[in-house]
Amino acid sequence: MSSAKPPSEERKAFYRRIDPICLTPLWECFADLISPQPTTPCRPYLWSYDEVRPFLMESGALIGAKEAERRVLILENPGLRGQSTITHSLYAGLQLVLPGETAPAHRHAQTALRMIIEGPGAHTSVDGERIFMEPGDFIVTGPWSWHDHGNETDRPMVWLDGLDIPMVRFFDASFIEHYGQDEYPQTRPPGSSLATYGANMLPVGARGGDHSSPLFHYPYARSREALEQMRRGGEWDPCHGLRMEYVNPANGGPAMATMSTFLQLLPPAFNTAPYRSTDGTVFHVVEGRGETTVAGQTLSWQARDTFVVPSWQVYSHSVREEAVLFSFSDRVVQEKIGIWKEQRQETP
Ligand SMILES: [Fe+2]
Repeated sequence: MSSAKPPSEERKAFYRRIDPICLTPLWECFADLISPQPTTPCRPYLWSYDEVRPFLMESGALIGAKEAERRVLILENPGLRGQSTITHSLYAGLQLVLPGETAPAHRHAQTALRMIIEGPGAHTSVDGERIFMEPGDFIVTGPWSWHDHGNETDRPMVWLDGLDIPMVRFFDASFIEHYGQDEYPQTRPPGSSLATYGANMLPVGARGGDHSSPLFHYPYARSREALEQMRRGGEWDPCHGLRMEYVNPANGGPAMATMSTFLQLLPPAFNTAPYRSTDGTVFHVVEGRGETTVAGQTLSWQARDTFVVPSWQVYSHSVREEAVLFSFSDRVVQEKIGIWKEQRQETP
């Protein structure tokens, strides 16, 4: 939408004369550039795991993990087709590693998160430490960290990938380096980062981890137990139930520099108060069943489904079976630059 009044012939002639030297009048596009409130072409959408899984398995016969480098079906927002994004700033996809396969070692400027969906026992390695993953585990792979994935079990392994690809693309700052072998050498025993940073202690003098958490494996068993313990306090947030943020234990900040990540517990029959915020958010259902109303649509979800709520659209969850939702957004970046906003519509 541009200015309400169509330009006069005199103005149009002026625009034509300045166009060859790459000039354009701000007054014709001001309202689009600086809108009174957020506008987005992103649409709410839900990917049913039951519907997607057969296609994902079919892709396993179509291409090997090595040839594909990463065998992923991208979750592409219906309002942004062709752009490989789930919101303007975030990428999400479902990755499959079949038994016996390896997704070869590489590192890149983009930060990645993983939320494990199925296939316990396969491994991922980050900067020389191998960990074995269980459904619900949350994995951080910081910028320029070597990583590879392997599946030595007899079952397929599937996880949700979340990356800041669109942000890095926005900055024209993408780099990737291939290690040249399937696996990066193991230089630290499995479990090192969890032992070093995941026990409410830090090595004396340890600081840093500015760009991503030095703790890169957040086992679901621990996160789930924390929510279970907190339930006893009964302090439910009307908009979020019990919602916890994954943090970097070395500095107390978000686990990654570009993506905020959360895990929330919603008890049966809980209806959240309407809420909106400027960070378009990707939700993944770890447990439970329910529905989310957003922008006049109702998204019915169950365990393993993934759905997206665009920026500044009012949403609320209704829970049928006790639910645990993982979510991620660009909130950390918006907070850093002072533009993040939320609006709660609680009844007094
Ligand atoms: Fe990668």
